[in-house]
Amino acid sequence: MSAHTLLVLYGSQTGTAQDTAERIGRQAQRRHVRVRVEALDSYNVVNLISEELVVFVCATTGQGDPPDNMKNFWRFLFRKSLPVGSLCRLDYAVLGLGDSSYPKFNFVAKKLHKRLLQLGASALLPVGLADDQHDLGPDGVIDPWLTAFWEKTLDLYPPPAGLQPLKDTELLPPRYVFHFVDDVTKKPADQSREVEQGTKSLQGLSFAARMISNQRVTHLEHFQDVRLIEFDITGSNIEFSAGDVVMMRPKNSLEDVEQLCNLLRLDPERQFILQPTDRTAGHVPAHLPQPCTIRHLVESFLDISGVPRRSFFELLASFATNELEAEKLAEFSSAQGQEELHSYCSRPRRTALEVLADFPHTTAAITVDYLPDLFPEIQPRSFSIASSLLMHPNRIQILVAVVRYKTQLHKPRKGLCSTWLASLDPMQGEVLVPLWVKKGGLRFPSDTNTPVIMVGPGTGVAPFRSAIQERTAQHRNGNVLFFGCRSESRDFYCRSEWEELQQGGCLTLFTAFSRDQEDKVYVQHRITEQARLLWDLIVNRNAHFYIAGNAKQMPTAVCDALKGAFQTEGGVSKDQAEEMLSTMEKAGRFQSETWS
Ligand code: 2AM
Repeated sequence: MSAHTLLVLYGSQTGTAQDTAERIGRQAQRRHVRVRVEALDSYNVVNLISEELVVFVCATTGQGDPPDNMKNFWRFLFRKSLPVGSLCRLDYAVLGLGDSSYPKFNFVAKKLHKRLLQLGASALLPVGLADDQHDLGPDGVIDPWLTAFWEKTLDLYPPPAGLQPLKDTELLPPRYVFHFVDDVTKKPADQSREVEQGTKSLQGLSFAARMISNQRVTHLEHFQDVRLIEFDITGSNIEFSAGDVVMMRPKNSLEDVEQLCNLLRLDPERQFILQPTDRTAGHVPAHLPQPCTIRHLVESFLDISGVPRRSFFELLASFATNELEAEKLAEFSSAQGQEELHSYCSRPRRTALEVLADFPHTTAAITVDYLPDLFPEIQPRSFSIASSLLMHPNRIQILVAVVRYKTQLHKPRKGLCSTWLASLDPMQGEVLVPLWVKKGGLRFPSDTNTPVIMVGPGTGVAPFRSAIQERTAQHRNGNVLFFGCRSESRDFYCRSEWEELQQGGCLTLFTAFSRDQEDKVYVQHRITEQARLLWDLIVNRNAHFYIAGNAKQMPTAVCDALKGAFQTEGGVSKDQAEEMLSTMEKAGRFQSETWS
C-alpha cells in the first residue's frame, strides 16, 4: 500500500457523482493506493491545507448551482479572506458531471478548478467535463479521463515495488458487515422511529407529516393520473414561500421488496446491526434504525428500481460463476461494452431488480454484506410546493403526475416516488410521510406593484398556484397565468379555483388545450397572441416572467415566442429582443424551473 493517501471528495445531487467517486475509490484500492471517499460537506475543509492529492467529483445542477451536499464547502472556498497560495502543497484533479443541453454546462467544476489554481494548488490534469449528452453517456468522458488520471497519479505516487494491480473483477471487501441479531428476546427495532421523532439527515430535520388527502385531479379516462396531495404540517415550524420545494424519500413497493428477498434468498424479517468496515470513511445512514429488519432496509434505503449504473455490473461480475453470465457481465463492465450496456439497460429503462432476475446464478451468489455496495441509497425527491401558508395554514399541497410509460420492455415503467405517493391512501388509515422543505429556484418579487407573468403547462403550474395564492392573500394584483394541458374536459385541473380568482379580478388566465382541436395549441401560441399585453406589462410595468414545467422543448419555445412578441409589439430587432431577455434574466426578472 502506498504511503500517500488519495482523497476523493464529491458533490452529488442525484448520486452519479457519488457513484463515480466510489468507483475511483475502488480503482485506487485495486492499485494499492490508500484512499478515502467523502461527500464534500462531510469533510472538514480546513484540512485541505495539509492534503497531498485530492480528486473532486462535482455535479452541476439547475442553473449552474452546486449540489446540496457541497454547499457549505462552496461558501467556504470562495471566502475572500482565504490567502492566495494557501493550497500550494496540494495536487488536485477536478472531474465535472454535467449536461451540455443546459446553458451552464459543468459550471461548478470549471469554477472550482479556477479557484483551486488561484489558491495555489496544482492541477494534475485538465478538468474533466463529463456530459450526459455524450453518445456513451458520462462514461464517454470519464473513462479516458480516469486513465490519464491514474497514469499521472501512479507516476507521482508509485505503489510499492512488486505489487501488481488487482483485476477489475476481483472482489473487494464490502463497505459494511451485517451482524444478525437472532436473539428473539431482544425487543424488535422500532422501524417507525424516523417517523415519530423526525430524523437528522444530511438534508436537515424531516418532519412526519400526516397525509390528509390524495385526490386524482384528471379525468379517470385521461391517460395521466395527476394527484393533488395535501399534508398536515401542524407543529413542525416549517415555513416556506412561493417557489420553494418539499423533499421526501420514496419507498419501494412491497412486491419489489419480496422479489429481491426471493432472488437473494433473504429472510425479510431477520434483524441486523450494520457496521462499517475499513473500506469506508462513511457512516451508517443516519436514519437507519439499529437493529433493522432486512425488509425495512430494502424498502426504505436500497434503490432497487432505478436503472443500474456500470458499477453495479462491475460488482455483479465479481460474483459470477456461470460462464455465460460471467462473460456478459464482464462485457457490461468494460469500456468497450458501454454501448451494449446502454441498449440493454438505459434505453429500455431496465431496473436493477430486473437485471438481477436476468442473471439468476450470479444473483444467488451475492452475499448480504454487499447489499449496500450493490444498490445506491434511495435519493430524496423534490416537488414544487403548490399551496401557500397564507391561504392554507399548516398545510403543504403538491401536484404530482404519476409517472408511467412504455419502453420496449413488456412491463410499463413506473416512477418510484410518484407511484409510491399515489399508492398511499389516507382514508385507509393514518399515513405519515417524513418531509422537509428547501428553498427553490424561483423567487417572486417583494415589491407589491410588480406584476408576474407565469407560464406553467401541466404540473408546471404547481409553483404558480402557490404564488397566486400567496399574492392573492396579500391583495397583490397583476397575476397572469398561461396554463396548458391536453383537454379542457380531462386534465384542466384547478379549473374552478382559477375561475373564482378570475371572477374576483385576481387573475388573468390564458389556456392552451393542445388536443381539443386538430392542430396542437400550446402556451407559446397564446404568448404570441398576447404580445401587446406582455409588452405593456414587461416594458411599462416592469413585470417578472416565469416558466416552469417538464416538457423539454417547452422553455425554448416559450422564450422564442416572448422574443417574437418583443419584435412585433416593440419593433425591436431579433438581437435587441435577445438582449432584452438576457437583461431581464440578469435582473432576476426572467426565471425558469424545468424538470424532466
Ligand atoms: P401534448 O402532450 O398534447 O403534446 C402539459 O403536458 C401540456 O404541455 C400538454 O398539453 C402538452 O401537449 C404540452 N406540451 C408538450 N410539448 C410542448 C412544447 N414543446 N411546448 C409547449 N407545450 C408542450
